[in-house]
Amino acid sequence: MPSDYVPPPQVVVLPTTNELKALLAIIRCRETNRGDFIFYSDRIIRLLVEEALNHLPFVPKIVKTPTGSDYHGLAFKQKICGVSIMRAGEAMEQGLRDCCRSVRIGKILIQRDEETALPKLFYSKLPPDISERYCLLLDPMLATGGSAIKAIEVLLETGVPQERIIFVNLLCAPEGIAKVLAAYPKLKIVTAEIDDGLDEHKYIIPGLGDFGCRYFGTDAP
Ligand code: URA
Repeated sequence: MPSDYVPPPQVVVLPTTNELKALLAIIRCRETNRGDFIFYSDRIIRLLVEEALNHLPFVPKIVKTPTGSDYHGLAFKQKICGVSIMRAGEAMEQGLRDCCRSVRIGKILIQRDEETALPKLFYSKLPPDISERYCLLLDPMLATGGSAIKAIEVLLETGVPQERIIFVNLLCAPEGIAKVLAAYPKLKIVTAEIDDGLDEHKYIIPGLGDFGCRYFGTDAP
């Protein structure tokens, strides 16, 4: 992250623990093999999902313990769902399932339109009652923000308000954060780390390369 950069209040960055720094060093390292990349990315995704769940609304809940005493706890107030931005976002689905049993997960495919060079929606399949749910939008890399903005537009069209969308990603570029929050200021972003910026190919720097290719074992474009 640039030394003078102050993240906007809508951005929640995971606490910089030694454990997280070690996990990030493994997935960022270009020598890391695919098996380790998947394993350690999955560990970070799990931490991100747990953090994102902590930003949902809760209501008080009192339960009786086996000793006959009351325990004053909390319960989730509203239903949730996941929506992955294909293809890299699909890598985050299992982390969400590991935390939320039987969670509904929609998918959105956005690609660059060959003619306009703008992000274009190619496919979406979302839970029918998505407008009643909080939505964890999954994409590991927030780079330019182009795909994210298009995906959020799709969610808004289905009736999900901005303030019920939590965008979960591993790494962000400040440019992407600025662009997404300028368009949707009520959104929340949960990320593991904010990087320095983008290179001329729109890769995040220092970044980790192409997340989808490293996770799914395909060649970088
Ligand atoms: N997507 C990636 O996989 N990596 C980047 O650096 C930017 C977007």
